[in-house]
Amino acid sequence: THQWRGIIEEYRDRLPVSDSTPVVTLREGGTPLVPAQVLSERTGCEVHLKVEGANPTGSFKDRGMTMAISKAKEEGAQAVICASTGNTSASAAAYAVRAGMVCAVLVPRGKIALGKMGQALVHGAKILQVDGNFDDCLTLARGLSDNYPVALVNSVNPVRIEGQKTAAFEIVDMLGDAPDIHVLPVGNAGNITAYWKGYQEYAADGIAARTPRMWGFQASGSAPLVRGEVVKDPSTIATAIRIGNPASWDHAIAARDESGGFIDEVTDREILRAYRLLAAQEGVFVEPASAASVAGLLKAAEQGKVDPGQRIVCTVTGNGLKDPDWAVAGAPQPVTVPVDAVAAAEKLGLA
Ligand code: F0G
Repeated sequence: THQWRGIIEEYRDRLPVSDSTPVVTLREGGTPLVPAQVLSERTGCEVHLKVEGANPTGSFKDRGMTMAISKAKEEGAQAVICASTGNTSASAAAYAVRAGMVCAVLVPRGKIALGKMGQALVHGAKILQVDGNFDDCLTLARGLSDNYPVALVNSVNPVRIEGQKTAAFEIVDMLGDAPDIHVLPVGNAGNITAYWKGYQEYAADGIAARTPRMWGFQASGSAPLVRGEVVKDPSTIATAIRIGNPASWDHAIAARDESGGFIDEVTDREILRAYRLLAAQEGVFVEPASAASVAGLLKAAEQGKVDPGQRIVCTVTGNGLKDPDWAVAGAPQPVTVPVDAVAAAEKLGLA
């Protein structure tokens, strides 16, 4: 009876649902806000991590998907479709199971992490690997949903944004006010749009006294919002944010400008450094794309853009188990020992 009920029940009065909306939920949201000791020391600030990998399918997408699938069911849809770099498809596949719907997913061939592919497969989604990038997949998904009886559950569907804004509510509910700065990785730009909407709504209703500055970070090889133009052939090891033409482009720019924030880029090397720091020094295992927020904060701090004493929240968007290749790559090989205490103690440096 004390279990978190999922974002629709917890924030029902702030979401476009009614008594007749069938709530399709895996009890998403209610994720940990974890104080980050090492990041706080490095920046002289009070840094928290919003650990979205703790959601049911391992990413923040579940907040939007409980809304998208519930509304699709309310409208009588029998099938849903999405384009995805992996997490949206994993989430859509799981929530479609709960709703008894067919789920079709379009993913860029060879550019999605194994864990995410495994999720879509095990949940029984119909997967098409497209010879193209995410942007091509989204174009295809939009066309299919326009012409066939299948509901689009990408973040161009506004109810996805409604669901995802609840992460900002949780942060304010926890901290008692909005932070000074909120830092996010940016790909298709739905999430930065959603957080900004959530913070603004709480401020408008006086639940928060202020709104944060929104800082977004893209991967250098996939940074259209930084370049100010579409990137035709986006590249980055952070496949989740390998996107050259973000659907929520204008909303992301509005979030940046209205909040007095900025959108910058981080290199793959900076992403991997932050990824390892989070795991090895904060105990938080995220997927590479998620580390872009923390990489960005560290970059900004090195550039002297972070005044000490501020309260900062970094969203880490997805679980490290999604893409374990990067954890294993470059790490020392485990040592093999016989079933022998002396040998084991020796190898562990205990003897
Ligand atoms: N982090 C992760 C782990 C993601 O999966 C995504 C987006 C983002 C950040 C960026 O969020 O698109 O709202 O700016 N993944 C989408 C997908 C594109 O298909 O799973 P955004």
